[in-house]
Amino acid sequence: MIELQTVERVYGDGALGMRALQGVSLTVLSGEFVSIMGPSGSGKSTLLHLVSFLDTPTRGTYRFRGRDTATFSDAERAAIRNKEIGFVFQAFNLLGRMSVYENVELPLLYSSLHPEERRAAIEAAVLSVGLTEKLHLKANTLSGGEKQRVAIARALVCKPSIICADEPTGNLDSVSGAQVMEILRRLNEEGHTIILVTHETYTARYGRRLVTMKDGRIASDERVAGHASAGLSK
Ligand SMILES: Nc1ncnc2c1ncn2[C@@H]1O[C@H](COP(=O)(O)OP(=O)(O)O)[C@@H](O)[C@H]1O
Ligand SMILES: [Mg+2]
Repeated sequence: MIELQTVERVYGDGALGMRALQGVSLTVLSGEFVSIMGPSGSGKSTLLHLVSFLDTPTRGTYRFRGRDTATFSDAERAAIRNKEIGFVFQAFNLLGRMSVYENVELPLLYSSLHPEERRAAIEAAVLSVGLTEKLHLKANTLSGGEKQRVAIARALVCKPSIICADEPTGNLDSVSGAQVMEILRRLNEEGHTIILVTHETYTARYGRRLVTMKDGRIASDERVAGHASAGLSK
C-alpha cells in the first residue's frame, strides 16, 4: 500500500541542504504494524510526514496504492490525507478550549455527512478510545493520557486505513502510555495499518516489524519475534 523507493528529503538548498533522508526504500503492506526507532535526528519524523502526505520527497518515488504520488494534485493529496491517514502527534495538538466532541469533529467539518451520521461517527470514535463519559468536557481539563486518546479518536473519525503516530507516548507516564499502545494494538487487530515512531523499546515491541533508522537511512528492518503476520496485502 505504501512503497517508497530511494527517497531523499533535503531541507534547505543545494550543498548546504540538510539531507534528512538519504535514499530510503520501504514497503508497508496493508494490515502491518511497523515500529520505527532510531536516534534523535535520524529522520523518523521526516519519513512519517512523507508517508502521511504532510511533506513531499525531494527525490525518489512514493507510490500509494500503486500510484505514483508525484502525479497527485494538491486536492488529491488533501483528500487522501483526510480519508486514508490518521496522524497522532507526540504533543496531542488538541484545541484546549474546545470539548472532546468538538476536537474529534474537526476532520469532519468539510465532510458531506448528514448531521446524524456525523454525530454517530464522533461518538463511535470516542467510544473506541473509552472516553464517552468525557465527551463534553474541555480538552484542557483532561490528563495527558486522555488527551492522547482524544487525539486518536480524532485520527480515527474519518475511518482511515492507516494510522501514523509520532512518539505518541513520549509525553505520557507508563500507565497512560500502555493504554494508548493497547488502543493502537486493537486498532491494528481491527485492520488498521499502524506506523509508529518511538524511542522506547517496550513501545516498539507492540509492532510486528521493527525498522531502525540511522543518519537518514534504514539501518535494519526485521520481523519482531512472537507476532503472527497473517492477513497482509499490497
Ligand atoms: N523543517 C526542517 N528544516 C530543516 N531541517 C530539518 C527540518 N526538520 C527536520 N530537520 C532536520 O532533519 C534531520 C531529521 O529530523 P527528523 O526527521 O525530525 O528526525 P527524528 O524524528 O528522527 O528525530 C535532523 O537533522 C533535523 O534537524
Ligand atoms: Mg521526530
